[in-house]
Amino acid sequence: MEKTTMAFRYFMPADTYFGRGCIEAHKDVMEKLGKKAMVVTGRSSAKKNGAQKDVTDALDSLGIQWVLFDEIGENPDLETVERAAEIAVKVGVEFFIGIGGGSPMDASKAISVMAANPGKGSDALFDGNSAALPVVAVPTTAGTGSEVTQFSIITLHEKRTKTSIAPKVFASVSYLDPKYMDTLSPKITNNTAVDALTHLIESYLSGSANFISEKIVEMGLSIFRECIPALKAQQYPAEIRDKLMLASAIGGVAIAQTGTSLPHGMGYFLTYEKHLAHGMANGVLTRAYLEQFPEGDEKVAKLLACLGMKDTAEMGAFMDAVLEHTETYTEKDIAYYTERFLETPQKMATFPYPLTKEDVYKMYEKSLLK
Ligand SMILES: [Fe+2]
Repeated sequence: MEKTTMAFRYFMPADTYFGRGCIEAHKDVMEKLGKKAMVVTGRSSAKKNGAQKDVTDALDSLGIQWVLFDEIGENPDLETVERAAEIAVKVGVEFFIGIGGGSPMDASKAISVMAANPGKGSDALFDGNSAALPVVAVPTTAGTGSEVTQFSIITLHEKRTKTSIAPKVFASVSYLDPKYMDTLSPKITNNTAVDALTHLIESYLSGSANFISEKIVEMGLSIFRECIPALKAQQYPAEIRDKLMLASAIGGVAIAQTGTSLPHGMGYFLTYEKHLAHGMANGVLTRAYLEQFPEGDEKVAKLLACLGMKDTAEMGAFMDAVLEHTETYTEKDIAYYTERFLETPQKMATFPYPLTKEDVYKMYEKSLLK
């Protein structure tokens, strides 16, 4: 490639509809995806918030047959994905609709890969060339961004952590309707909002950031800034729900370009070992991550300014105010997390400065042994 001051690719192929009532208004686009769908959800939330009914009503009116798989738990594991894929193959499912937080959407992507490659078994998930059947994403929390990313994170008990599947699976269609969040609890709202915020932050500061991803993040941060008082007060009027969903989708579009960085990579062990919600795991590590950058770093300063925060201490205070983090840790715990994190050099490489084992240990120490 020619030497140039700027070179990047921008790719975001999900056909995305935003707005209250968007499934009913744009259901026709599902017609081209197939004649039989699997609706993939958790046990109850998609039923309670009305998303499942909106989807199945749309499918019924289009004459698309569907089966329900509602067994996706938090941090879906390989065994659940395998079980759903087996059913999908048996009944001839042609596309998948993941409704929920990150877990059902991520699981749908993994199930779609296994169902498209029945001969490969779970190997299909670790081979970047495996094809996928089409996926529709309907987020009912504002955090994961899975509706606009190519990522699917599943839990591998064998490795005691979470990992991205190798095939990149963008949703063919995404419906972003903030009304499904109107009844979401303050706890889940805040944990997922922090997940969205950390996507914006980690994308912005990643060594892979590019001109477009940075501008997108600046827009997302300015929207997120308007939600900060509501998150602290745990009051979420409809316009705040809309903004949180927008900020989450923008965070997703940003990490689809750059990937995530240290808080995500380091936080997986807190989720696996201590059952911290994903957003919380990232959030508790964020201040120390920002302080790992050289003092006076211009990008960190600009990021904080976009959020209306004066320094990293204010970021830490924000996380303390919106997350209920009460877990305790020992030095042995953080030594273990440090060792495990060093097994993911690709995540460490996203940090744009040299990073040692001691640096990683200190970030955990600062965040967890307060
Ligand atoms: Fe995340």
